[in-house]
Amino acid sequence: MRTIHTLKELRAVLSGYREQGKRIGLVPTMGNLHEGHISLVEQARQAADVVVTSIFVNPMQFGANEDLGNYPRTLQGDQDRLRAAGNSLIFAPSPEEVYPDGLALQTQVIVPEVSEGHCGASRPGHFEGVATVVTMLFNMIQPDVAVFGEKDFQQLAVIRKLTRDLFIPVEIIGAPTVRDADGVAKSSRNGYLSAEERALAPTIFSTMEEIATALTQGATDYTKLENNARSALSAKGFRIDYINIINSLTLRLANSEDQNLTVLVAAFLGTTRLIDNLSIKR
Ligand code: PAF
Repeated sequence: MRTIHTLKELRAVLSGYREQGKRIGLVPTMGNLHEGHISLVEQARQAADVVVTSIFVNPMQFGANEDLGNYPRTLQGDQDRLRAAGNSLIFAPSPEEVYPDGLALQTQVIVPEVSEGHCGASRPGHFEGVATVVTMLFNMIQPDVAVFGEKDFQQLAVIRKLTRDLFIPVEIIGAPTVRDADGVAKSSRNGYLSAEERALAPTIFSTMEEIATALTQGATDYTKLENNARSALSAKGFRIDYINIINSLTLRLANSEDQNLTVLVAAFLGTTRLIDNLSIKR
C-alpha cells in the first residue's frame, strides 16, 4: 500500500488502474483513523476494486477558534490500520498541494439550504470548507464511488446535494455510525475527552434513543421533546449546541406530518464538541 503526497503522482497511479478497467473507491478522511473509518474502507472495498483513502486535515473547514492546530495527525498509525484493512492507496497531500494560491484565493463551493441550520449555524463557513475540499477530491481522484459516515448526517446531505447539483459522476454511499458498546459514536474527537467526560458521553445516545422511542410511538410535540432532552443533558454537565428533530430528507425542522425523522445533537463536554444523530421512520 503506497502513500502518495502529490497530485501528479496520484494521477499517474490512478490512470494505470483505470487502464486496467478497475473501479475506484474513495474514502475521504482527516486521518486519526478509528473503527468508524475502517468500516468506511470496508464498504468501499465491497463497492470498488481499488480503494483510495485521502488523509487531509482541511484548514478551510475549521473556524478561527476551532481545533485545526491541535487536530491529531497520526499518519504512521493510520497507515498501519489502512494496510490491515486492505486499503490500496493513501493520498496525503500537504495544504500547499491542495491550496497552492492559499485559502483566501480559493474558489469555493456553496451548497444552499442543507448547509444552513444545525452545524451550519454554529460553525459558519464549515460546510463551504467541506463542500469545497470534497469537490476538489472528487476532481483529483475521479472515483466511481465515495463512502462517507452517517455520523456526520448534515455533511452527508451536503455532499449528496453538491454531487447532484454539479453533475459529478460519483456514487455516494452513506455508512452506518459505528458505536462503542455503551453507545458512544466513534469519533476522532473522543480522544480529547477526560475519563470523567468519557463516562458522561453515552448520555447523548441514551437521550436520542428516548426521543426516538417517543417519536416512534407517535409523539409530535417536538419542542417539548427537544427541551426535555436539553434539560436532561445540561443537568449532567453538557453544554448544548443544539438538539433538533428534523425531517431526514429536507433537514428542515420536522412537522407533525413527517414520517422520516432524525434527532440531531451537538453538545460540548468541556471544550470537546460531540455530534450524533438517530433516524426513525414512522
Ligand atoms: O468527515 C470528514 O472527516 C471531513 O469533513 C471530510 C469529509 C474528510 C472533508 O474534509
